[in-house]
Amino acid sequence: MLETPVFIERRARIAARLGLDSEVLLVGAGHPVPLPENSDQTYPFLAHVEYHYLAGLECPGALIAYDPQEPPAHRWVSFVPTVTEDERVWEGRTQPPGRPLETLDAWLTRRRGRPLAALGEPPRGFAPDLATTARVRDLLKHARREKDAHELALLRRAAAATAAGYEAVAPLVRPGVSERTLQIELEAAFLRAGASGTGYSTIVGAGSNAAVLHFAPTARVLQDGDFLLVDAGAAVDRYVCDVTRTHIVGTSSPFRRDLHAVVLAAEERAIARCLPGAEWRDIHLAAAVDLVEGLVAMGVMRGRPEDLVARAAHTLFFPHGLGHMVGLGVRDASGTAPGRARSTDPALRNLRTDMPLAPGYVMTVEPGLYFIPPLLQDPARRDRFHDAVDWDLVDRHLHVGGVRIEDNIVVREDGPPENLTAAIPKQAS
Ligand code: GLY
Ligand code: MN
Ligand code: MN
Repeated sequence: MLETPVFIERRARIAARLGLDSEVLLVGAGHPVPLPENSDQTYPFLAHVEYHYLAGLECPGALIAYDPQEPPAHRWVSFVPTVTEDERVWEGRTQPPGRPLETLDAWLTRRRGRPLAALGEPPRGFAPDLATTARVRDLLKHARREKDAHELALLRRAAAATAAGYEAVAPLVRPGVSERTLQIELEAAFLRAGASGTGYSTIVGAGSNAAVLHFAPTARVLQDGDFLLVDAGAAVDRYVCDVTRTHIVGTSSPFRRDLHAVVLAAEERAIARCLPGAEWRDIHLAAAVDLVEGLVAMGVMRGRPEDLVARAAHTLFFPHGLGHMVGLGVRDASGTAPGRARSTDPALRNLRTDMPLAPGYVMTVEPGLYFIPPLLQDPARRDRFHDAVDWDLVDRHLHVGGVRIEDNIVVREDGPPENLTAAIPKQAS
């Protein structure tokens, strides 16, 4: 990957965006992390995303370096450790391209006295300039928010594998099937359809488990009338999708059907708002108003939706942000616009992604409504929002679970946003 046109072009584009002058940049892949019991086992190795993005390699211990004062063809240099006999024998590793890692010292010595930014996993034994590192990291993060054609192609493959997984489990959703069985079939179908793995830990939650935002599947068996929430995505070459669908198992009650319909309508409206220049926080707040409007119509909340959102009353049932960036990792380059601090406004407190959208950004859009006992039984919240909620009705549905619907959306220069995961059906049953 390192020397393919995609990565040569990408590094040149990123270098122009970083605008470095005298600073020297090192980006480390990182090292495998041993399991705590200190055996010869490690957690699966994933190179630091900043390294992977620039080098396209998954090489433990490797680094890529950049010196803006070299002639253009020599600015980026790859350093790789020499593969040992043990690594060849036990792991089948081969020597990746690049200069021997032992020559990094000499390379850096020739640049002594210049500010050093150390991204990725910082190399051991060097003293980077912390302020320069933080500034360059922010610039890199912002520069890689727009996905290039190669990244979008990988995301489309991840989306196809993800769709194959959801298609495989759809006929299995019925009373008597366990969360674990659905996880197994979903993940197997991802792999059969070309995925290299899952993008994150698969979430399968039935009944009240659907209200646990990151629920790990268990042997629990689906019951007639349950919500079933599945949040899972395939990974292809480190690029991942992040998709949620919620079904009603067997017989659906009007209350559950209404809750699902409210979330689905809010999701579709939020997707349509993903246009260049739109502020993510505004799309989040508009979705919160849509969700609250639905809850008011269902008799769960009381009042004017805009006023309820201004009071942050929506966070009782919608306690997370509308979504995040997705791509190279499930959170990709999420965060705030350069120079923007996280909002302390209670209505926006849960929003970890806060930036204007631009063409090429890929966002999850994932509104949800949940009945989460630890939030809804909290006396302080009940007191603050005594007038905003029909608490008797809430108590009657306290263990109903929740609904989330999540798609992966590409912001486009012209025309409406593209839904990469539109092929996965969203109906309740
Ligand atoms: N899959 C976790 C999330 O939706 O962010
Ligand atoms: Mn998700
Ligand atoms: Mn997500």
